Amino acid sequence: MTTSPELELMPGVEPTPLALLMLGRQRDPESERGVDCPGELPAASDPTLVERARAAKAALGDRVFVLGHHYQRDEVIQFADVTGDSFKLAQQAAARPEAEFIVFCGVHFMAESADILTGSDQAVLLPDLAAGCSMADMAAFDQVEECWDVLREAGVADVTVPVTYMNSSAAIKAFTGRHGGTVCTSSNAKRALEWAYAQGAKVLFMPDQHLGRNTAVRELGLTLEDCVVYDPHKPGGGLTVQQLQDAKMVLWKGHCSVHGRFTVDAVREVRERVPGINVLVHPECRHEVVEAADLVGSTEFIIRALEGAPAGSAWAIGTELNLVRRLAKEHPDKTVVFLEKTVCFCSTMDRIDLPHLVWTLESLVDGVVPNRITVEAETARYAKAALDQMLALP
Ligand code: 13P
Ligand code: SF4
Repeated sequence: MTTSPELELMPGVEPTPLALLMLGRQRDPESERGVDCPGELPAASDPTLVERARAAKAALGDRVFVLGHHYQRDEVIQFADVTGDSFKLAQQAAARPEAEFIVFCGVHFMAESADILTGSDQAVLLPDLAAGCSMADMAAFDQVEECWDVLREAGVADVTVPVTYMNSSAAIKAFTGRHGGTVCTSSNAKRALEWAYAQGAKVLFMPDQHLGRNTAVRELGLTLEDCVVYDPHKPGGGLTVQQLQDAKMVLWKGHCSVHGRFTVDAVREVRERVPGINVLVHPECRHEVVEAADLVGSTEFIIRALEGAPAGSAWAIGTELNLVRRLAKEHPDKTVVFLEKTVCFCSTMDRIDLPHLVWTLESLVDGVVPNRITVEAETARYAKAALDQMLALP
């Protein structure tokens, strides 16, 4: 293995990207996010952290707006001005032109989208730059360009509309904007696909094959045979020209390392253990898991379903653990269990902790703007076209 200068920690030591991610230091040029974390963080054991965050936020007043994704830790969520799924947070970022600083407690692709949707006089900050998304990293810009060439050679690029899940780099959203497509989230994927099929006969859905398949088959009435999986690591995506010509849905071979772990066995097991339990999962879960569940929906949908559920009802939830634990705490009159024993937190979402938030807020109070996320102007222009298309979906 060769070590690039960016990856070098100390002479003679070849760090692995995993080690770098754990340390939250240095840069990984192969990833959608950097992993540099400059500055001195307060100790996690500091008993005054809550007080310090409160004081820094109060000192900043309306100059700062804190967004918190539902998968964030409780210690961070308590300081969010708004909590939401990725769609709601994108809307909220766009709706705050008066905030000088948007502190995004979520992951890198969400902060990039917020930067694209906010004014140039506003700074979007990600408290820990190592908070990326392994799914977003599964689609690199060059691979997507190559895929489009494959579609062109198969004679189908002209009738293909790219639809990109929010969980993707700004460069891929820009690709989508340049080719007349749209971004989507798990709460509007159905509407995004309906819109796309009104523009062209075929959709290239990136990077989450499961959200693409689940939406196409369960909500638009396509068959599993209408869908093919494009593997960016195989020549021609591992597909024949005939397969590409016949497919209505070309799914990128990407998945969520958290949601991809829920199993049909876990659904069966919880139904046996708790008769009458409702199984509710996120659409990033595999197709067979979604089929075995009772309900499927985005994080915002999951929260609303629990709010509307009668006291005494029982729920097994297949999504990120921070959210499931919070739901269990907020609904003591209902039984709320985590669907799978072997699945854990989203490790990158979890990187944003109270020390990082305190460090970010106190830096702002001191006049330093840390960890600003900026998307280069040309990329931002085309990515914004795809994001605006999403925000305008009927
Ligand atoms: P939502 O769109 O439901 O917020 O999900 C984002 C995400 O990263 C799910 O893994
Ligand atoms: Fe990415 Fe999955 Fe984490 Fe969501 S839960 S941020 S898709 S790795």
